[in-house]
Amino acid sequence: MILGAITPKNQKDLRSSLHPNTLQPILDMGIDVIFESGLGKGIDVDDSVFSQMGAKPVSRESCISTADILMSSSPVSDDEISSMKDQSIFLGLMEPFANRSQFSAFQQNNISAISMEFIPRITRAQKMDVLSSQSNLAGYVSVIESAKVLKSALPMMMTAAGTLKPASVFVIGVGVAGLQAIATAKRLGAKVEAFDTRPVVEEQVKSLGAKFVKLDLGNTGQTDQGYANELSEEQIKLQKELQSEVCARSDIVITTAQLFGKPAPKLVDENTIKKMRPGSVIFDMAVESGGNVEGSALDEITDIHGVKVIGLSNLPSLVADHASFALSNNFINFITDFYDKEDKLMKLDLDDEVIKSALLVHDGQVLNGAFK
Ligand code: NAI
Repeated sequence: MILGAITPKNQKDLRSSLHPNTLQPILDMGIDVIFESGLGKGIDVDDSVFSQMGAKPVSRESCISTADILMSSSPVSDDEISSMKDQSIFLGLMEPFANRSQFSAFQQNNISAISMEFIPRITRAQKMDVLSSQSNLAGYVSVIESAKVLKSALPMMMTAAGTLKPASVFVIGVGVAGLQAIATAKRLGAKVEAFDTRPVVEEQVKSLGAKFVKLDLGNTGQTDQGYANELSEEQIKLQKELQSEVCARSDIVITTAQLFGKPAPKLVDENTIKKMRPGSVIFDMAVESGGNVEGSALDEITDIHGVKVIGLSNLPSLVADHASFALSNNFINFITDFYDKEDKLMKLDLDDEVIKSALLVHDGQVLNGAFK
């Protein structure tokens, strides 16, 4: 079986879907590995590092047309899908809600498409969960980048020149990214408060030494996969009103709120921004899915009434080496679980819980109800 790894489409994405520190188990299983030449460039890994381990550099075209399993950290074009090997497997981030035309391309070319976004949130699959591994790093980056823009230090410092107050950080949305943002801000010495519509989060926030802000929005809850339910318009209005005082007393507000498969909820409006102190910082982590903050702009720092609103994208790419290590482990853990060493091929058991969720196209059929 030949495993191929290609570079992401977005040139700003420096991640590599293969990392030299994770490759060996795959080679030990007797899988042949090919990769698009330059795959490790963004993490300063030369082709020769992979080739000395036994993997082979090839052109992108050759990688796509030769691989039995094609790994990619971003979607591929319909033309590229049509040049894939008959009955081969695409394993990667498909951005399936934003990229629907690919479904017919996979169907017509008899390619099985596995979306890493649909790895189920079950204990057994945590090691394959790309959304978690990358969100965790994104949460870390959001604090580091906010700290760079804030014109104060985060920890309290008692100096001969006077006492410097610790920065106040408010995290809105406490999923994987939010938890890491809280932990990072705490490590840097900030005073941290946080809010999420899922009540189960309160204990997690407290266990990190941060304060959970209680806002009574009525019935909120979560889906059986642990994602937030969408709030009604009235609930969003109430949330904005109630949390605006917390924003006003914060030096840094980090918003991470997402709804799976839907645009992000708008949670911080201009009225709230106006109440904040000039020089304070808002980091909108949801900017790529529509944004939580009114006026945030993709890859820009926007000045709104003196408040710096950061809309950086591709956050894991800012710690590309660790992000690639985690990403590569996620991919390799998936392959290791479903590779049949005797028959030397991937066995996609349609009754397996992970395959049922993540295999979106197979045998010319769209399997997931959300995309039929
Ligand atoms: P996400 O990226 O979909 O959303 C981020 C956060 O925004 C969530 O915590 C969500 O509740 C929150 N949110 C949505 N609307 C909001 C609003 N109006 N105000 C404030 N917050 C709002 O979430 P992510 O990071 O994918 O994690 C969701 C949950 O999934 C985790 O907390 C965890 O419980 C579960 N999970 C389970 C895993 C497993 O068991 N394998 C792995 C990873 C996550």
